[in-house]
Amino acid sequence: MELSPEAAASRIDALIREITEHDYRYYVLAQPILSDSEYDRLVAELRALEEQFPDLRRPDSPTQRVGGTITKDFPVALHRRPMLSLDNAYTFEELREFEQRLRRLMPQAIFSYIAQLKIDGVAVSLHYEKGVLVQGITRGDGIQGDDITPNLRTVRGLPLRLRGHAPDYVEVRGEVYMLRSDFHRLNEERSELGEPPFMNPRNATAGSLKLQDSREVARRRLRFFAYFAEAEGLPDSDWAVMDQLRLWGFPVVETSGVFSLPDVERFIIDWEKRKETLPYDIDGIVVKVDSRALRSQLGSTAKAPRWSIAYKYQPEQATTILRAITYQVGRTGYITPVAELEPVKLAGTTVKRASLYNYDEIRRLQLHIPDAVVIEKSGDIIPKVIRVVPERRPPTAKPAVPPDTCPECGSALIQPEGEVGRYCPNYKHCPPQVIGRLEHFVSRRAMNIQSLGEKILRRLYEEGLVRCFSDLYALTTDRLSSLRGFAEKMPVKIVQNIQASKQTPYPRVLYALGIRHVGETVAQKLAEAFPSIDTLRNASEADIASVYTIGEVIAKSVYAYLHDEENWSEIEKLRAAGLRFSLDFSPSKSDLPLAGKKFLITGTFQDIPRDRLIAYIEEHGGTYASGISKNLDYLVVGEEPGKAKLDKAAQLGITLLSLQELEAMVNHPIRET
Ligand code: IVH
Repeated sequence: MELSPEAAASRIDALIREITEHDYRYYVLAQPILSDSEYDRLVAELRALEEQFPDLRRPDSPTQRVGGTITKDFPVALHRRPMLSLDNAYTFEELREFEQRLRRLMPQAIFSYIAQLKIDGVAVSLHYEKGVLVQGITRGDGIQGDDITPNLRTVRGLPLRLRGHAPDYVEVRGEVYMLRSDFHRLNEERSELGEPPFMNPRNATAGSLKLQDSREVARRRLRFFAYFAEAEGLPDSDWAVMDQLRLWGFPVVETSGVFSLPDVERFIIDWEKRKETLPYDIDGIVVKVDSRALRSQLGSTAKAPRWSIAYKYQPEQATTILRAITYQVGRTGYITPVAELEPVKLAGTTVKRASLYNYDEIRRLQLHIPDAVVIEKSGDIIPKVIRVVPERRPPTAKPAVPPDTCPECGSALIQPEGEVGRYCPNYKHCPPQVIGRLEHFVSRRAMNIQSLGEKILRRLYEEGLVRCFSDLYALTTDRLSSLRGFAEKMPVKIVQNIQASKQTPYPRVLYALGIRHVGETVAQKLAEAFPSIDTLRNASEADIASVYTIGEVIAKSVYAYLHDEENWSEIEKLRAAGLRFSLDFSPSKSDLPLAGKKFLITGTFQDIPRDRLIAYIEEHGGTYASGISKNLDYLVVGEEPGKAKLDKAAQLGITLLSLQELEAMVNHPIRET
C-alpha cells in the first residue's frame, strides 16, 4: 500500500506515540501489554515507513535506539547549572549533624526529606525541547561535559519524547547504569574476544557511554533512572516531581515517602539488608530536603548542595592472607592474575580467590607474599583485593613478581603498548589457548557443534586427535570409538554434528576462527564488505580499516591473521573440507526461502538432532518461535509429536508441515552436506 507523504507523516506520529506509550508501560509501570514480537512489529512498521520516506525520520523515533552514529570526538557542552557532587555521611551521627546544620541555617523552617537509592552509575543531564530529547551531556567537571546524545538515545527506558503535556523546556538528570546480569554477559563476551574485563558495572557503563559507535552502545543494554527535574511549573515537593517524571515516561529511582529523619534512618537500614536483591548496584542512600523552595534558600557550596547528603554503605570487607598469585591463560593468551587466599567469610560466602584483573593491579597494590590483604565484595561481583595491610607484612615477605613467561607453555610474555595486561604470544601451541580456541570454534553462535563439550574437546586434544580446527573434520567414528569411556552412540553423533556444521554461513565461520577483536558484529560487517575470504585476504590493512566502524586495531589483527602462513593453510584445509568461506552460499536474508516465517518443532526426526533442525530453519531465513501463538506460521511435526501443541495449533489454524514439506520449501535436503 502506497501512502501519501501526509498520511505517512501522521502514521509515523501515531506509531511514535504508541511505542512511547508501550515503553512507559514496560519501563515505568512494569506492566507491558504487548508481547515482544507485537512490539517489534510496531517498530518494524515505523522503520519501513522511514525507509520509504527518509525526510520524515525524526530524532525522537524509537528506531534511533539501535544506534548507527559514529562520533570521533564528542563536542563539549556547558551545563546550564553546575552538576555538583554530594557530601557523604557514613554514620547516623553524621546524618543528624547534617540536619543540625540545616536548622542553624534556617531556624524557622520545618524540614522533611525524601530518601532515594544512590545508583552506582554515571550521571548525565538531558535536555528536552517541546517534549523531544535534544541533548544529553555527561557530568564532566561539573561545569562542562561531553555531548553524547547519539549514545544516550540507545539507553533503554530513556524517553526520546515525553508523554503527555510537557513544558517547552525540561532538564532531567539521572543515572545511566547497567544491570549486573548484563555486566556479567558483557565481561564473558570480552574474555571471549580477548579483551580485558571491566571491574564493575559502573566502569562498564562509563566505558560504554564513551564508545564512538552508538550501535555498539546499544548492544551494551544500558539503562536509566531519573532523580532530578527542572522546568516551569513544577510542584514544590520533590516527591511530587518524581511523580511528574514518571508520567513523562522516566523510570524513577526508588524513592521513599516524605519523611522525618528517623523515618529516613529506617529506610537506610531496610535497604542495607535488601540491596543485594536488586538487579543493579547501589552504593548508598541519597537524602534530600523535599521542598524545592527551601532548597533554593539553602543553596550550595562550590562542591555540593547544602540540602542533600549521601549516606554511603560500607562495602563488606574482610582481612585475610594472600598465599600466592596464580596466572590463568585465556583463549587469546590474555593472562589474568588471581589472588589465592586463606579462606575467609565475606558477605555470607567463603572466599578463597579474588580477581586481580591485570598486572598493573599487582604493582599498584605492591603485593607481597604472604601479605595481609583487605578484600571487598560489592554486589555479586567477584571479590577483589582493595589494599594490603603493611603493618602486618612479615619481614620475610617477598614482592610478588608477575612472571615474564607463560605459566602453561613457558613462552616469553608480551605487553602491547598502552595496555595494562600481558599476553602469551604462543598463539598456536599454548594448550589453554588451543583448547579455548577450539571451544570457541564449536560454540553455539559459531559452528554450533553441540556434542563437543569442553571435556570431550580437552580429551581429544590430550589424545593428540584434535590440535586444530581442520582436525575436527578428519575425525571418524572408528577413531572416536577406539577411545575408552565414550557412550555408545556418542561417536556417531559427534561426527554427524561436525559434518552438519559445514553448512554454517560465512560470517559465522569468520567469527568461529577466533581472530582477536572479531566478534559477531565485526564478522558480519567484514563479510558484508568483503564477501569472501579471498577478497578479505587481498585487502590492505587500510582497506579493512576503512569499513564503517571497523577501525585500525581490528584491521591490524585481521590482516596479520590472514597473512600468517600457518593460519592460511589451516583456512585452505577447512575450505577443502567444505566449509563456507564466501557469501555466495548465503544470499541476503530477505531472499532466503523461509524469510519472515516463524516455525516451531514438535516430536523427533530420526537421526536429525533438534538443534540441527533449528539451525537449518534459521540458515534459510526462518525464525524459531518460543511457543505456539497466533503469530506462528508453521508447526513442523515429527514422530511422537506433543498432543498439546497439536491441539493448540489446530485451534489457531496453524499450518502443519512434515520434514519433507519443509525441505521442499527450502529446496535443499537437510541431510546433504
Ligand atoms: S542527586 C545536586 N540522587 O551520586 C545533587 N544523585 O555522589 C545531584 N547519584 O553525581 C545528585 N543516585 O551521579 C542524586 N538518587 C540520586 C542518585 C544520585 C546516584 C549519583 C550522582 C551524583 C553522585 C554524587
